[in-house]
Amino acid sequence: MPRGLFITFEGLDGSGKTTQIKRLAAWMQKRGHSPVLTRQPGGTATGDRIRALLLDSGSTPVAPMAEMALMFADRAQAIAEVIEPALAAGQIVLCDRFTDSTEAYQGGARGLGSETVLALHRLVCGNLQPDLTLLLLPSLESSLERARRRNERQIAREGTNENRFEQEKEAFFSRVWQAYRDIAIRESERVALIEGNLTIEDVHEQIVEAVSERLVSIPWTV
Ligand code: TYD
Repeated sequence: MPRGLFITFEGLDGSGKTTQIKRLAAWMQKRGHSPVLTRQPGGTATGDRIRALLLDSGSTPVAPMAEMALMFADRAQAIAEVIEPALAAGQIVLCDRFTDSTEAYQGGARGLGSETVLALHRLVCGNLQPDLTLLLLPSLESSLERARRRNERQIAREGTNENRFEQEKEAFFSRVWQAYRDIAIRESERVALIEGNLTIEDVHEQIVEAVSERLVSIPWTV
């Protein structure tokens, strides 16, 4: 059984990842593949409990090192329970955020540094690398505006408030944005950088182009 494909989506809160993951999954389904969709933090029962700790704005302060360790605890569980079994069974995994998020948010914005994050990744995640990472990087302003509107809708609809990160100041997100760009430049083989304020359709087209060009082991035409 050939190993599956591991594709991750990255970007700021409000960069449109969720919409694009669904669009790509539908595109793959039309071509006879049934990708496994998962997200971090979360995606397993244990991970959902960690997610609540990490994202609930009512949580007591979380030290940056504790935050990073919890992100990796969640990831180790997801790899063991969801990602590795799916890849071993030859499936395509679409994962909403992975270690690039930790490098951008905890390494870059919280100041823990890339080296610490990458060292933990080697230790905790067996250095598992995505076959392709789709990094959505619209302007900082439009991401922040979209994230704010989404959070307001979520509070109105569900009464939940998963916005501990969204309460951060603009300078924090500006550091996340820059850290993501640095990763894209350093790992240009793996990371497809989709920049600018494009329409949903245009971003989808660029994603399809990146998937078809870079993941040639699968013939994507119908
Ligand atoms: P989520 O609601 O999943 O945001 P989005 O839909 O925008 O991806 O929240 C995840 C939050 O957790 C987001 O603000 C980024 C943050 N995060 C980290 O800081 N480090 C990480 O390693 C991961 C996976 C997420």
